Amino acid sequence: MSRTVASALLTWYDQSARDLPWRGFHDAYRTWISEIMLQQTRVETVIPYYNRFLSLFPSLEALAGASEADVLKAWEGLGYYSRARNLRRGAAQVVAEYGGVLPSDPAELLRITGIGPYTAGAIASIAYDLQVPAVDGNVIRVLSRVFGLRDDLSRPDVRRSLDRLAAEQVPRDRPGDYNQALMDLGATVCVPGTPDCGTCPLRMLCDARAAGDAADLPRLPRAKPPRLIPCQVLLLRSGSSLLFRRRTETLLRGLWVFPLWESDLPLSSSDLRRKLRLSLPEPVFRGNARHVFTHQIWEMKIYSAEVNPGLEAPAGWTLIPAADLPRYPIPTAMKGPLALAGTVWPDLF
Ligand code: ADE
Repeated sequence: MSRTVASALLTWYDQSARDLPWRGFHDAYRTWISEIMLQQTRVETVIPYYNRFLSLFPSLEALAGASEADVLKAWEGLGYYSRARNLRRGAAQVVAEYGGVLPSDPAELLRITGIGPYTAGAIASIAYDLQVPAVDGNVIRVLSRVFGLRDDLSRPDVRRSLDRLAAEQVPRDRPGDYNQALMDLGATVCVPGTPDCGTCPLRMLCDARAAGDAADLPRLPRAKPPRLIPCQVLLLRSGSSLLFRRRTETLLRGLWVFPLWESDLPLSSSDLRRKLRLSLPEPVFRGNARHVFTHQIWEMKIYSAEVNPGLEAPAGWTLIPAADLPRYPIPTAMKGPLALAGTVWPDLF
């Protein structure tokens, strides 16, 4: 059974593999960057970021020596920014502890900041041809359907048996291609919801296809819906600058945001006296914006206020000349507020 699955997958991969810029190399640095970018992010989104990232940071040493701000800027818009911060720290660790060369042993790879079991398996198999699995959401879906795993995968014992099965399936020959074939199949054919079983290279081998319940697998408890967070955003202009803050919270750490407070009340100048220790004119409501994160949704009410040039930014805040904004990493969550700033002050941009 298992050899058949692997050989059917590899035959399909030889004909159908997507031509992706990180393929066709045995280069652990490239594999690392691509696999980190591809977590939680679609291939089409990743491609331009991957190409730009490699031209900015062409080697592991270049990444290790870059500033966090430069790495976050290269990641701007890709989301899950801890991936970028960890990549840079991991690169510095590889330079310090492994002479700048990523190790091939998955157990060693797991010691590097930001590398978990999936990434360790992907690097070891794709870059170093080691016979190890790389189990991500796509692979879980394909394997649970093909092998008819119908137990709740959030149970640790069930997850362990899937991991054991996944490890047994990896062929000695072309393990990296096999792992990528599983990922491609999961992304293009064995998709969530209704899979395209008619074109699947594993259709004759698939337990769920025979049983007719592929659409119900994998069995995972429903994710909690994201929490709605109402917030007030202030666009504050002084001269040709806008007030920003570099976040220190876990969410979006290191990225620059407008003044923003969790509240479902209207924003008033007395709030601002308290929050910013500034005496400002009454803020003017300008519109709404929403940003969806994995676990929360920001529902933003956006206000503007303007003061004369020469305002001194309160401690912890920074006035950034609008012309310099392209140099700062600014999260997608701020794109709506930034667009409103452009309509309020078209002369600024
Ligand atoms: N998703 C995660 N890793 C991938 C890879 N190497 N190729 C295509 N899709 C992927």
